[in-house]
Amino acid sequence: MSAYKKIAIAGATGTLGPFIVNALLDAGFEVTALSRTGRTNTQDRGTGKATGTLPSTVKSAQVDYDSQDSLVKALQGQEVVVSNLPNYESQPSLIDAAIKAGVKRFIPSEFGSNVSGNKNNAALPVFKDGKVAIQKYLKEREDQISYTLIVNGFFLDWGLEAGIVVDFKGNRPVKVFDGGNGKHSLSTRSDIGKAVAGALLHPEETRNRAVYIYSATVSQNEILDIARKVKPGFEPQVQHVTTDQVLKDSYAGLEKGGESVGPAMLGFILTSCFSDDGYGNDWSEYSDNKLLGIKELSKPDLEKLVAQNA
Ligand SMILES: NC(=O)c1ccc[n+]([C@@H]2O[C@H](COP(=O)([O-])OP(=O)(O)OC[C@H]3O[C@@H](n4cnc5c(N)ncnc54)[C@H](OP(=O)(O)O)[C@@H]3O)[C@@H](O)[C@H]2O)c1
Repeated sequence: MSAYKKIAIAGATGTLGPFIVNALLDAGFEVTALSRTGRTNTQDRGTGKATGTLPSTVKSAQVDYDSQDSLVKALQGQEVVVSNLPNYESQPSLIDAAIKAGVKRFIPSEFGSNVSGNKNNAALPVFKDGKVAIQKYLKEREDQISYTLIVNGFFLDWGLEAGIVVDFKGNRPVKVFDGGNGKHSLSTRSDIGKAVAGALLHPEETRNRAVYIYSATVSQNEILDIARKVKPGFEPQVQHVTTDQVLKDSYAGLEKGGESVGPAMLGFILTSCFSDDGYGNDWSEYSDNKLLGIKELSKPDLEKLVAQNA
C-alpha cells in the first residue's frame, strides 16, 4: 500500500474527475471531493451530459477557491491533492494552501499533451499561461511539496463520445492531420484514473516528474478504419488538414477573439495531440504503463470501445 491514504480531489464532478475518484477508491484510498458548492452530482462539462453522482463513500468539502483559509481548512489531514480544475488561475492558491496544510504530493491539472517534455507544446497559447506556469510554480516549490504530472494524450473514450475522434452522428468532419498515418498515444479516462492511483502507489518512482501513459498508440487512419469495420456502410466525414494550416487558423481565431477563441484553443489542443510535426505525441517507447499498472488495449478491445459509440 502507498505511503499515502487520504486524497483530496479538486474538481471531482466534471469530465475526468469521477474516473479518478473511482480508481482511487478501487485502490483503497480515502477520497475527499473539494467543490465550490458541495455538490456530488457529476456532469461531463465537455458534452453537457449529467453523468451520475459520486460514490457515497466519498467525503465532500465545500471550498472557496479565492480563500486561503477555506482551502487550508479543507486540506488539513490530507496527504495528496489531485487537481482537475479547468481554470488554471485557481491552482497557485490551491498549491499554497496544500503546502500550508502539510500535504505531501500535488498532482496538477495536466491530463493531456506532452507539455513538459516538448518545447512546441509549451509554446502553444493554450498551454503557455496555464499548464506551463503551474509546472514552473510546482518546480520552484519542490522542496516544500512533491508533484507528479500525468501525461496521457487525448481522452480516447471521450473523443469518441464527443465526435472528435470519429463522428458517428455525422455532425461535423473529423480533422485528420498531415495525412493521418502518424501514431499518437491516447488514453481512456478510466486508465487515467488508474494512472493517478498507480502514481500514488509508487510515490518515490513518480516524484517530481512527468509520467507517460497510453491506452492505445494508433494513427487517425487506423481509428477511422476500425470505425468502418464496426459499422458496415459507415463512411466517416473527414477534413484533411496540415499542422501549418490549423496553427495559422488558430492564431487568427485567437486574434479575432470572442466566439473564435474556443475553436482556436481546440485547434491548438488537436495540433498537440495529432500533429506529426514535432509535438512529441507518441510515447509508446518510453511510457510508464508498466509501473502504473496500465494495460494497452488489444485490437479487439479497441474495436469494442469504438463500436460502443457507433
Ligand atoms: N486530454 C484531453 O483530451 C482532455 C480533455 C478534457 C480535459 N482535459 C484536461 O483534464 C483536466 C480536467 O478537465 P475536465 O474537463 O475534467 O474539467 P471540467 O469538467 O471542466 O471541470 C471539473 C470541475 O472543476 C470544478 N470547477 C472549479 N472551478 C471551476 C470553474 N471556474 N469553472 C468550472 N468548473 C470549475 C467543477 O466542480 P465543482 O462544481 O464541483 O466545483 C467542475 O466540475 C484539465 O486539465 C483539462 O485540460 C484533457
